[in-house]
Amino acid sequence: MTIHKVGVLGCGLMGSGIAQVSATAGFKVTVVEVEQKFIEKGFAGIEKSLTKFAEKGTLTEKPDSIRARLKGTTNKQELADCDIIIEAIVENVEEKKKMYESIDGIAKKDTIFATNTSSISVTELLSATNRPDRFIGLHFFNPVPLMKLVEVVRTIATANDVYDTAIEFAKKLGKVPVRTSDRTGFIVNRLLVPYLLDAIRAYEEGVGSIPDIDNAMKLGCGYPMGPFTLLDFVGLDTTYYITHVMYDEFKERRFASPPLLKRLVLAGWYGRKTGKGFYDYADPNKPVPANF
Ligand SMILES: NC(=O)c1ccc[n+]([C@@H]2O[C@H](COP(=O)([O-])OP(=O)(O)OC[C@H]3O[C@@H](n4cnc5c(N)ncnc54)[C@H](O)[C@@H]3O)[C@@H](O)[C@H]2O)c1
Repeated sequence: MTIHKVGVLGCGLMGSGIAQVSATAGFKVTVVEVEQKFIEKGFAGIEKSLTKFAEKGTLTEKPDSIRARLKGTTNKQELADCDIIIEAIVENVEEKKKMYESIDGIAKKDTIFATNTSSISVTELLSATNRPDRFIGLHFFNPVPLMKLVEVVRTIATANDVYDTAIEFAKKLGKVPVRTSDRTGFIVNRLLVPYLLDAIRAYEEGVGSIPDIDNAMKLGCGYPMGPFTLLDFVGLDTTYYITHVMYDEFKERRFASPPLLKRLVLAGWYGRKTGKGFYDYADPNKPVPANF
């Protein structure tokens, strides 16, 4: 199957990035949002990002011609001629299922449905449609235009040709696809989340201070940033939510939230986005580590 036209649901952080890389790769793209103002916000971000890429000289055509392949709308009917529809709306199982139910009758019979979910079971989402064999996970990473990886998630119902098409599509976007199955967390979060939670437990047990643990993993393992810096970037609320989904699936302590993470979330300290987490970002260029 050949993909000509891409549909994207949601024009937030991830949806706008997916739309941008798809248009840059030469596909026609229709992005659906709930309100026009979210399209405008997302498209403004795309404009800014394309301008930066143009300045760096990494685009093969002018931003305007890429932009011309992008269309934003609040009307789902405009997805009728898309060959693949990638959903990147809020991480809420009921919202996503409602969305899939509503577009199943609009999309062509052979259109591939893909979800960008980070933690919800792809199999649970496909149950809201009549196309279980044409449903996959395409898990992009933030920021989408810069991050090379896409986890391509197959379920027990995925047809081989659909999976192969999705792998080829990810390559056409300039990404490196990795094959994985529908197990909560896929590859990256399955390995990353226990590591981040262990860093919090190590701190709780007095193994080291927040900056010392961060420096140890940066300088000792060559990681680009330490676990607490990364946790504050990802958002402690998001990590806390993911621990619930993962613990619910595996019932293993390594996926359970340490008490300190829960306290930080209860206090509303979600990391960089709220100005406070494991570091204080009153001056964002000089984060001050907490000492709980
Ligand atoms: N943020 C990340 O780092 C990241 C990384 C990988 C995957 N994801 C996943 O991507 C998805 C989107 O995350 P995000 O960070 O872009 O969220 P976001 O809040 O930035 O964007 C979500 C967008 O979806 C829109 N939306 C909500 N309901 C809708 C509907 N019914 N129809 C159309 N649009 C709707 C919202 O208006 C919003 O603009 C989630 O499933 C998330 O788990 C996020």
